[in-house]
Amino acid sequence: MFGQALFRQIEMNETIEIRGQEAGDWEDLYAIRTATPGALPYIRPDWVREELAEPKKGAWPLVAVAHLADGPSVVARTNLQLGSGRREHCATLTLEQHPDLAGDAGRKLLCETVEVAEKWWNKRRLDVTLPAADSAAVALFGSLGFVQEARLRESVRVAGELVDEVILARLSGDAAASRSVEPGGRHPQSSPRSKPDVRIRGGSSDDWEAYHAIWSQPDVCWGTMQIPYPSADWNRERVRERTPPRFWPLVAEVDGRVVGNAGMRRDEHHRSHVGHAGMMVHSDYWGMGIGSALMAAVIDLAENWIGLTRIQLEVYTDNGRAIRLYEKNGFNTEGVCRAFSFRDGQYVDALLMARLCRVR
Ligand SMILES: CC(C)(COP(=O)(O)OP(=O)(O)OC[C@H]1O[C@@H](n2cnc3c(N)ncnc32)[C@H](O)[C@@H]1OP(=O)(O)O)[C@@H](O)C(=O)NCCC(=O)NCCS
Repeated sequence: MFGQALFRQIEMNETIEIRGQEAGDWEDLYAIRTATPGALPYIRPDWVREELAEPKKGAWPLVAVAHLADGPSVVARTNLQLGSGRREHCATLTLEQHPDLAGDAGRKLLCETVEVAEKWWNKRRLDVTLPAADSAAVALFGSLGFVQEARLRESVRVAGELVDEVILARLSGDAAASRSVEPGGRHPQSSPRSKPDVRIRGGSSDDWEAYHAIWSQPDVCWGTMQIPYPSADWNRERVRERTPPRFWPLVAEVDGRVVGNAGMRRDEHHRSHVGHAGMMVHSDYWGMGIGSALMAAVIDLAENWIGLTRIQLEVYTDNGRAIRLYEKNGFNTEGVCRAFSFRDGQYVDALLMARLCRVR
């Protein structure tokens, strides 16, 4: 029964109650975060309070409450960040647990969260990113059927060191049964084309119609996360929201017409050395060096001006043209994320690729 599944009492030394997170849990969560080794230090209590007062869109947090000698306390918390659009079948998990008080509550909460994700939200790809050195967490997720898919080099800063993380994922239902698409795919090698003069400049909200035209193209939907038949109003709003310093939009112009765009989103706090890149070119202009020009600008901006040392992206395993472009620009494959997205009636895997640079 629904009530029993979500609020069941689990027999332990102390009674553990699992329930949805409430705004008033913020002090316990602050205590967990400040007690966890390797977590960002000196966080502000009001950040945690605001986060719980206004959870992120698509967040579904659960907590485990232990009835300790001095009263009930949240000792572990999971969050399901629910995917949408082409990633409706996905959810990203986090688990936070008090190092001294949680006992087995973290594991119990995690089991319940996986059940809720798969049986109530119908999520078929659950993933989690963990510090590679946290063998206890890796083993815990591994015991629940999560499999390591990628190792992210130098993706987080911990006490002055850049350390690796791993992505683990658990597939279920039709996603578990899906087969990877073959490399090569839909777009044959095009013959060399003449290279026009390309001007790269910052994108602005005035460019929204050009963005909308490119995002609406079937070939661009195929290679990216765009959805066919997008609403112009929606795209106008999306372009308006893409502003520095978190997001750096670039456009490529040929003869004064915007024919391609790229973007880089910068992570925050102890991941602020990481940028996530994406790009697309109007298919009438493929093979003319525009993707290469956009990529050169992304790298220049990231590494020479805003001090990023890691640029990462996901690319479908059958998008040979894009993979070639990224390899040529120093990106290495760090793993394969299975059933990463849904495309034209089937799940499609994605390579996780990254380029590292050292600050000179
Ligand atoms: C991927 C994309 C941005 C490349 O843009 P582009 O302007 O065609 O790129 P370029 O002309 O600079 O060519 C890039 C490289 O791919 C090579 N290439 C062309 N067709 C290819 C193919 N079918 N298979 C493999 N490589 C191919 C080119 O030869 C070139 O390498 P080279 O300079 O060594 O010759 C563009 O195809 C696109 O927008 N695709 C749809 C959206 C998309 O997939 N975005 C990437 C999301 S991760």
